[in-house]
Amino acid sequence: MPSEAILNIGMLATMDEGEGVMGLRRDAAVVIEDGRVAWVGASDDAPAADASFDAAGAAVIPGFVDSHTHAVFAGDRAAEFDARMSGARYTAGGIRSTVAATRAASDAELEAHARRLLDEALRQGTTTAEIKSGYGLDVATETRLLEVAARLTDEVTFLGAHVVAPELADHRADYVDLVAGPMLDAAAPLARWIDVFCEEGAFDVAETREILEAGRAAGLGLRLHANQLTMSGAAALGVEMGAASIDHCTFLSDADVDALAGSGTVATFVPGAEFSTRQPYPRVERLRDAGVTWALASDCNPGSSYTTSMPFCIALAVREMGATPAEAIRAATAGGAAALRRTDVGRITVGARADLVLLDAPDPVHLAYRPGVPLVSRVWRDGVTASRWEKRAS
Ligand code: NIG
Ligand code: FE
Repeated sequence: MPSEAILNIGMLATMDEGEGVMGLRRDAAVVIEDGRVAWVGASDDAPAADASFDAAGAAVIPGFVDSHTHAVFAGDRAAEFDARMSGARYTAGGIRSTVAATRAASDAELEAHARRLLDEALRQGTTTAEIKSGYGLDVATETRLLEVAARLTDEVTFLGAHVVAPELADHRADYVDLVAGPMLDAAAPLARWIDVFCEEGAFDVAETREILEAGRAAGLGLRLHANQLTMSGAAALGVEMGAASIDHCTFLSDADVDALAGSGTVATFVPGAEFSTRQPYPRVERLRDAGVTWALASDCNPGSSYTTSMPFCIALAVREMGATPAEAIRAATAGGAAALRRTDVGRITVGARADLVLLDAPDPVHLAYRPGVPLVSRVWRDGVTASRWEKRAS
């Protein structure tokens, strides 16, 4: 693959060495070769490359790492959203209406819809996306969803424990056995992670522990939907079990924050969900003070957060969660990578994947300063200018 030099970058957010939280370098250049970052430095010192691109003083950041999506589903729940905006409360139960639509959809329909969402995400700067199952809730459909997800990303998560399947509503213990048994057996070869929605109306702490333990024994890494609607004890469980990430964290106790500090568990915030469910936003000050690594993700799903836009999440984190723009942009790149235990994405350093986003702006801060404006003008994924989502070759 020919090398390419991206020259005259006004501000380059490396998330590594440089100024401040974003590792900023000014008047910088990046050389990409064979899908990787081969050189980073001052634009004037850039080595010759086969091709060059003039950034003309604009800002460049790493591609966003969206570590939490439910992108494989059918149907939408606009009416449910509309009712919430008139005062109805969000509950876990809405998931079942998406399950009915998803079970009725063909693989081709599910894949085409997921691709549309990922294309949309890519146009907004996302270059790595995790995808969960969780709208099948029977062995055959969960397997189909995981197969679709595995055609789109390496970051596939088995979320059979999203809610109890409707046909087993009165037999929850049987459903837990199904998830931790035959469903997991079918899922494990297709997934990297296991996740549980640990919440009122979904699974309690004891059920969650049982399912996560089974997942771990099957070789999957752990992630968790934790403390979305209540202080459920899920966050503490996730940290205790060494989950890579506990997600939502709308409600965290001081003890949860203390437990996260110094642990290997990332706290992932999904402010699109607070937006769309009219819940209070979590705040980042306590995490900052405690030195906790936190990430931002879209939580793209038809119920609680139907957005693919990481710039939207950044703007919300800045306006509503107390984050600085630099912290929010870091959380959406290097933070997401940490939540997926990845070191090859979310940063612009020699050897990293050449996933770069050119902004139609002089400063990455514009992502929050100019909310709702399509600032992503070009995306390189694995070193190639990309406009359609494809699964990475390796
Ligand atoms: O992350 N919390 C659980 N799962 C999704 C919502 C699912 C739904 O409402 O369809 C979430 O918010
Ligand atoms: Fe979610």
